[in-house]
Amino acid sequence: MKVLITGAAGQLGRALRSSVPDVIAGEPVQLITTARQGGNDSRVLDLADAVACRALVQELRPDWLINAAAYTAVDNAEGEPERAWAVNAGAPAAFAEALQGTDGRILQLSTDFVFNGQQGMPYQPSQSVDPLGVYGASKADGERAVLERLGEEGRAVVLRTSWVYGPVGKNFLLTMLRLMGEREQLGVVADQVGCPTSTAGLAQACWAVLEHAVTGVHHWSDAGAASWYDFAMAIRELALAQGLLQRSAVVRPLTTAEYPTPARRPGYSLLDCTATRARLQLEPRYWREALADVMRVLRSSQPRKPSP
Ligand SMILES: NC(=O)c1ccc[n+]([C@@H]2O[C@H](COP(=O)([O-])OP(=O)(O)OC[C@H]3O[C@@H](n4cnc5c(N)ncnc54)[C@H](OP(=O)(O)O)[C@@H]3O)[C@@H](O)[C@H]2O)c1
Repeated sequence: MKVLITGAAGQLGRALRSSVPDVIAGEPVQLITTARQGGNDSRVLDLADAVACRALVQELRPDWLINAAAYTAVDNAEGEPERAWAVNAGAPAAFAEALQGTDGRILQLSTDFVFNGQQGMPYQPSQSVDPLGVYGASKADGERAVLERLGEEGRAVVLRTSWVYGPVGKNFLLTMLRLMGEREQLGVVADQVGCPTSTAGLAQACWAVLEHAVTGVHHWSDAGAASWYDFAMAIRELALAQGLLQRSAVVRPLTTAEYPTPARRPGYSLLDCTATRARLQLEPRYWREALADVMRVLRSSQPRKPSP
């Protein structure tokens, strides 16, 4: 089975690379990866270049394309919408178009930011989207692009997830650890609720999508719920316990109004993952346990202090 992964240098891309199964659905896996800059045996591919996206799929004819690349800078997207749209909607459209001429399938990663966050209970995969900003809207268009072209034939999967973090890349965990090491105190938004999702669990869910040849729209996050403030407090507690932080910074809860950002964010974006868990035959970790695992990975990768 030939699997093509885009965004190999991203958080999820790296987790996927380090967890490739030998065999999927009884077939040995042949992995090909792309990254914007290449490197680590990845092919160079700029997702803003639709012609290049189409040509690569036509050349490689993958059985599965996992589109893990995305324009994920939520606030910057407000200032450069054309680029966000090209990467988040133009590229999935080009991939799906090229796959129409083959037997291949696409797994398109998407986001809780396709919802407006106003309903106050977890979102079902079947609910209509209503994004608040450019990032969410461009991702919603990316979803539509693959479903319109390959959905009817059962060759498109959209997997929405939320608050992704892991031991590498740009994410809330690593930002918090840095800020808590640098500052006496910091403020974190306490009135936006969602669920942190570790890249390890998300990668496992992606591989399960391929194993079970899943189709349609699905939701995956770790288990439970948290505000960004809860997430920050758990990071502080675990980091102090594991020696990743030497002192306890004061963390103040903020309202969204006290922390204005260029992009509006959903206030409550929990994803109902019940159907997907059953379909994938996979149970997620409780988010705090998954966080503790990632912290252990960080700790083990820290240089050892020389003994006195
Ligand atoms: N991060 C989250 O909190 C979150 C939440 C919900 C859903 N998601 C979705 O989950 C998926 C994986 O996200 P992630 O957290 O792994 O994101 P990430 O760490 O930001 O990785 C995205 C990757 O896409 C690449 N990329 C961006 N623009 C590109 C372009 N024009 N050409 C080629 N590559 C390009 C980036 O390359 P560079 O390294 O060169 O920048 C990066 O390696 C995405 O579909 C995202 O929308 C993420």
